[in-house]
Amino acid sequence: MVIVMGPDSTPEDIDNLVELVASAGGEAYVTRGVSRTIIGLVGDVERFANLDLRAQPGVSDVLRISVPYKLVSRENNANRSVVRVGGVPIGGATTTMIAGPCAVETPEQTRAAARMARDAGASLLRGGAYKPRTSPYAFQGLGEAGLKILADVRDETGLPIVTEVVDAADVELVASYADMLQIGTRNMQNFALLRAAGEAGRPVLLKRGMNATIEEWLMAAEYIAQRGNLDIVLCERGIRTFENATRNTLDISAVPVAQQLSHLPVIVDPSHSGGKRDLVLPLSRAAVAAGADGVIVDVHPEPETALCDGPQALVDGDLAELADVVGTLSGVLGRTMA
Ligand code: E4P
Ligand code: PEP
Repeated sequence: MVIVMGPDSTPEDIDNLVELVASAGGEAYVTRGVSRTIIGLVGDVERFANLDLRAQPGVSDVLRISVPYKLVSRENNANRSVVRVGGVPIGGATTTMIAGPCAVETPEQTRAAARMARDAGASLLRGGAYKPRTSPYAFQGLGEAGLKILADVRDETGLPIVTEVVDAADVELVASYADMLQIGTRNMQNFALLRAAGEAGRPVLLKRGMNATIEEWLMAAEYIAQRGNLDIVLCERGIRTFENATRNTLDISAVPVAQQLSHLPVIVDPSHSGGKRDLVLPLSRAAVAAGADGVIVDVHPEPETALCDGPQALVDGDLAELADVVGTLSGVLGRTMA
């Protein structure tokens, strides 16, 4: 059940409702959006029915939402959301290109990758300082030193940064540098991390778990939303199937399905799904054609020396071609590049 507060509701109205819900043995999670405040209720719906919530001061509507991902559902908000990251929009009538190195390795490599991204027309910089690696012997990222490099490169290029956080204990630190927190495929159901990200005051890029259904992905987003943060962007990055010609199978149908079920923007990662440089362009075309709100791609000045995922990293000319194709296709679909 979700309570939608009216535009004239006061903080006291909200506090009263939270107390009222608690008196019925429930919990109320308040999410303050740009245009409206909503309160998600957890508990026995039948007991809430006796509270006459609709008649309480400040309440505009009370919705009984049938799906388990209530706050992020289209039932809660029929309009598609736009999430702003350092002023850059994701969603709506724009297509957003996010590019950067898979991992932050050195200041020079990160700066070079960021310049490639900016010069090709990307409006956000990606780059991992904390890397979730399959092998404990693989490069795990530079940690806070990597975040400092990203912050310096943001100052130089003007590109806001998107960077992954892999541990709930690091959320505050990563959020102090990042413009957007990324939660990767391996952590999509790390509920402590989702909750912490929901309280961090930064937009969140939530990648789909490689073994997760779309419903599970949306319920993961709900954990973030329930903590008061509806600035969430979903990212389809490929799922595990029997097919081994690609690193993962890009589930292109997830784009329109997630957009039908949720008001959140949906972008695609063609780098981690295909796992190969020469698949990034065709998969990006498919993503934009399917209605994705953007793409996030890996770039590297010298992919052959990359410490993580070199084979899928684009090089200079590739990125310009990608930007051209994404821009042209977006125009055909009535969108502009962010
Ligand atoms: C993303 O960048 C991940 O850290 C990376 O794709 C993991 O790759 P691995 O399975 O080779 O460690
Ligand atoms: C990444 O984008 O750096 C990453 C770790 O991706 P994924 O979680 O999709 O594997």
